[in-house]
Amino acid sequence: MRIQNKVCVITGGSSGIGEASARLFAKEGAKIAIVDVDSVNGERLVGELKADRSDAIFVEADVSDEEAAERALTDIVKHFGTLDVVLNNAGVSAVGDVVDCAVEDWDRVMRVNVRGIYLISHYAVPIMRRQGYGTIINMSSTIAVIGLQSRAVYAASKGAVLALTRAMAADHSHENIRVCALLPGTVYTPFVEGYLQKNYADNVEQAVENLKNRQLNNELMTAEDVAFAALYLASDEARFALGTALIIDGGVSAAKVF
Ligand SMILES: NC(=O)c1ccc[n+]([C@@H]2O[C@H](COP(=O)([O-])OP(=O)(O)OC[C@H]3O[C@@H](n4cnc5c(N)ncnc54)[C@H](O)[C@@H]3O)[C@@H](O)[C@H]2O)c1
Repeated sequence: MRIQNKVCVITGGSSGIGEASARLFAKEGAKIAIVDVDSVNGERLVGELKADRSDAIFVEADVSDEEAAERALTDIVKHFGTLDVVLNNAGVSAVGDVVDCAVEDWDRVMRVNVRGIYLISHYAVPIMRRQGYGTIINMSSTIAVIGLQSRAVYAASKGAVLALTRAMAADHSHENIRVCALLPGTVYTPFVEGYLQKNYADNVEQAVENLKNRQLNNELMTAEDVAFAALYLASDEARFALGTALIIDGGVSAAKVF
């Protein structure tokens, strides 16, 4: 029960890393608020958490929509009374270098990945400030610190998230609001599965093998591996993790073996 009774908001919690974090956080005693555009999977997950006797709600909201972001946080605080942890995890991707990347894709990815975190934080920080405490975990990516081909806008968005995290830590640590970033490498979630199906439809198995070969341990991370890192950052064990950029990537950014 490492985060017992903490009210944890997980954006993008209907799938992948967010879903795994919701399940793990609930197991560790947290009260869960899933914020997502996907109400089918979100409601299903909340139903399962409640069946396991956890306290959980689903709030349908697009994090990049100002009115929706504000309403989501207001509704959550009305329901639970406090706001202990926000895992700003909702994210989207697009493939291509700066030439291939269409303007619409650039705007869509920056809007969800960067504006979404800004908006949720914009409305979460004043609530945490009033309470006198809070933790915000922003989902960046290893791509913020190493280049990867054909991911121009995704890399730009995750780099922005890392920079924003450090700026937020500088601004809000003295208010007892802890802000950290999580930088996962490749995690086998619907996010990556969809990318592989779209781009390597003729040989998805080989594409998965190639991803594994990038790892120092030749294994692909699961959403649960990232959820454990998020759990640490969400817990009071991480009280000295201020502006921390926690990389968890199977060694991809640490070393290369030829
Ligand atoms: N999968 C990876 O390899 C990987 C690696 C590093 C970082 N990440 C980051 O982790 C986060 C989660 O990724 P995942 O792999 O679990 O993806 P996923 O696609 O499985 O889940 C993302 C969730 O975000 C939701 N979402 C998308 N746009 C939204 C919006 N505007 N408002 C609210 N919800 C929205 C989706 O409905 C979905 O439930 C993303 O920020 C992603 O960039 C993923």
